[in-house]
Amino acid sequence: MLKAIDTDLWVAEQPLKYFGLEVGTRMTVIRLTSGKLMVISPIEMDDATINELNQLGEVIYIVAPNLYHHLFVADFKLCYPHAKLWAVSGLERKRPDLQIDYIISDRSIHQINGVEYLLVQGFNTLDTSGCSPLNECVFFHIKSRTLIVTDTVFHFDDQCSPSTRFIAKLLGGYNQLRPSILEKFATQDKVKVKCSIQQLLAWDFERVIMAHGSIIEQNGKSQFKAGYEWFLETSL
Ligand SMILES: [Fe+2]
Repeated sequence: MLKAIDTDLWVAEQPLKYFGLEVGTRMTVIRLTSGKLMVISPIEMDDATINELNQLGEVIYIVAPNLYHHLFVADFKLCYPHAKLWAVSGLERKRPDLQIDYIISDRSIHQINGVEYLLVQGFNTLDTSGCSPLNECVFFHIKSRTLIVTDTVFHFDDQCSPSTRFIAKLLGGYNQLRPSILEKFATQDKVKVKCSIQQLLAWDFERVIMAHGSIIEQNGKSQFKAGYEWFLETSL
């Protein structure tokens, strides 16, 4: 079910396990300046959520924001066949079955109907097949001063499952807005990441919506900056 976060901004959440841990996942819905809708990182839809979404407006853009959040894109596209699919570079090779309309490939900041976006390049993380790029596109909803990320940072607090809480405490990221510890070791092109994070920090955001963990409502920018201190303060 959709949850209103701010003017023209909604999220919907569902349970999701990753390596046996319940981390949940979240999609974000933005009403663009045109009045139409953009959906970032779609989840599995049910009839009730489809009805709610249809009442908000017409979905014209579906975004697969990194190389990992594509699981429900094909089914989502079936619900909204006229919507255009935006995907990060590399997804066309990973998911050749998807009909991708636009590849997000530029590192400089751009706009889609009033929503700024930026690709965090050189950003790698580990998956079961080894080391592969996350290649994440992040968004800034100017009107609500909201940064929308997917896996760039997590925020596991007392709302998450006991086992996820335990692991977050073990790895040192509990109750904090932090990149995954794997990113520390697996990021290959730190110069590109640093450049992207610096551009991202030029945005004037307060709230942070991420795919996994609890939404940060206040001081999101300083918390995000604290999470990337190890990157920003290291001379590369
Ligand atoms: Fe994720």
